[in-house]
Amino acid sequence: MECRDDLGSILPFLPLILRSSDVFWPPAVVEALKSLSKGPLHSNVNSGHLFALAIADLRNSLGFSSLYPSVSLGFSLFFDDLMSSDEADKWFGEVVPRLADLLLRLPALLETHYQNAGIFNGMVTGLRLLDSQQSGIVFLSQELIAALLVCALFCLFPSTNRGAKHLPPINFDNLFACLYEWDDTSQEDKIKCIVHYFEKVCSDMPMGNVSFERKVLPLENSPSNIFYPEADFWRKSHVSLCQLEVRTTGLIEDQSTEALEVDFANKYIGGGALSRGCVQEEIRFMINPELIISMLFLPSMADNEAIEIVGTERFSNYTGYASSFCFSGDYMDPKNIDKMGRRKTRIIAIDALCRPGNRQYKLEYLLRETNKAFCGFFYQTKVEQYQTLFKENRFLRAEPMNNISSEEYPDDYGEIGIVTGNWGCGAFGGDPEVKAVIQWLAASQALRPFILYHTFNLEVLQKLERVVQWILSHKWTVGELWNILVDYSTRRLKGETNVGLFNWLIPSLYNDDDNDPMVLDASRIT
Ligand SMILES: *[C@@H]1O[C@H](CO)[C@@H](O)[C@H](O)[C@H]1NC(C)=O
Ligand SMILES: *[C@@H]1O[C@H](CO)[C@@H](O)[C@H](O)[C@H]1NC(C)=O
Ligand SMILES: *[C@@H]1O[C@H](CO)[C@@H](O)[C@H](O)[C@H]1NC(C)=O
Repeated sequence: MECRDDLGSILPFLPLILRSSDVFWPPAVVEALKSLSKGPLHSNVNSGHLFALAIADLRNSLGFSSLYPSVSLGFSLFFDDLMSSDEADKWFGEVVPRLADLLLRLPALLETHYQNAGIFNGMVTGLRLLDSQQSGIVFLSQELIAALLVCALFCLFPSTNRGAKHLPPINFDNLFACLYEWDDTSQEDKIKCIVHYFEKVCSDMPMGNVSFERKVLPLENSPSNIFYPEADFWRKSHVSLCQLEVRTTGLIEDQSTEALEVDFANKYIGGGALSRGCVQEEIRFMINPELIISMLFLPSMADNEAIEIVGTERFSNYTGYASSFCFSGDYMDPKNIDKMGRRKTRIIAIDALCRPGNRQYKLEYLLRETNKAFCGFFYQTKVEQYQTLFKENRFLRAEPMNNISSEEYPDDYGEIGIVTGNWGCGAFGGDPEVKAVIQWLAASQALRPFILYHTFNLEVLQKLERVVQWILSHKWTVGELWNILVDYSTRRLKGETNVGLFNWLIPSLYNDDDNDPMVLDASRIT
């Protein structure tokens, strides 16, 4: 098998064994999967209860512990009680046998994968651990992703060594245990999305590719020439602010044109997707389940890192949010395909500070958040322009960056904007006005053409559009807006003000007199 080093880094996290240079399932697993693949008349697996037993047997053959009782009970609850008997017949009669077939083919799919890896623009693209502080990209076919996801459904990934590597759990055991323990309709609907995905890929396997990239803004001692900016860099930036369009309705994932769609991520990508979570990130992972496989090989993000995933397909439609989340049937993904076989759906995972409280107004944390967003938003096609900007601020070093990019040249040039919303403002407790400005600064500095900002009708952002229009009409730079943000935040931290950023910024709005022209207190521009 090619790319032994890549395989070597991921092998401890796969259930396969390596013999000479090829990977295999242990013989007992092959026998059990073959039996499953012949259907319930042969395998006898025709219920959730028996499915859990079959999984426990497979795990036993791999030397893993048996499933917790809640996991088995979760499988029974879903497939025997919640699923209609017609659907269960189809699941056990048609889908499970095909899933078993796909799992049997996992070694061969990996073999083909490593043979093809590393042929795009000279980039290394093989499946490997994309470890912290190492920028890099992995290209996987949708078929290989499907096989790996079946492995997760069957709870066959080894779990013991993941925590030490800062990798989140990847098996679906907890997803089912939470269903049993919490008996929550949103949890049931999350599993419906996953089941729908498996049904769909089994009847018509998608043949595209997906790329997963760890983006790193190197810390100062790196040989790269763009690195983690300091406050001074933002303070002095002369870059113009980009367009910012406000939408009060609509959802990020419904974006029909190509843009970078922000995943309000946990530093462990996927957050609570495979446990009880059901907010923005987790919902995205349920409707685009191929995202889940990022959790297999991407350890948690540091402050100077982001993860960009291009090409996942959306399979499910839904309504609601959190406890009201509801699977609402099939979704035919209309997105175009790029020349690497990826759907033009770009998702950028950036993790905001979690429950920062007043800390979020400290310079150190403003910088952390702005740099985090910048790390997510910068793109390779603009690297020369960034170099010039960094040079102005004396941050430039000589060598060019490595060619690691999930973005395509040259048609993307200048086209790809950011679609986002109230990043880190729900459960994470960020200040929505401050977070909107931070994302605007980061997108502008990354030379993105626009931000489409979904407010989800949040009341405190009602003035966002007017504030943005005012600032744009006065042609502020990134540096000017940064300085205002820092000034406000310093006062907020000291308790000198407790009004929101926009009201502080524009006293006439604070007076709430809509007939007044918007007058900005010029003395506040320092
Ligand atoms: C998704 O569901 C929404 C709400 O039920 C509906 O309006 C929309 O047409 C659906 N979209 C697709 C592609 O099925
Ligand atoms: C997906 O990537 C492989 C290389 O890994 C390439 O050979 C194949 O053509 C790509 N698929 C599509 C649909 O472009
Ligand atoms: C980077 O990309 C450019 C243009 O595509 C190419 O000429 C150059 O050889 C690449 N450099 C590396 C290190 O791969």
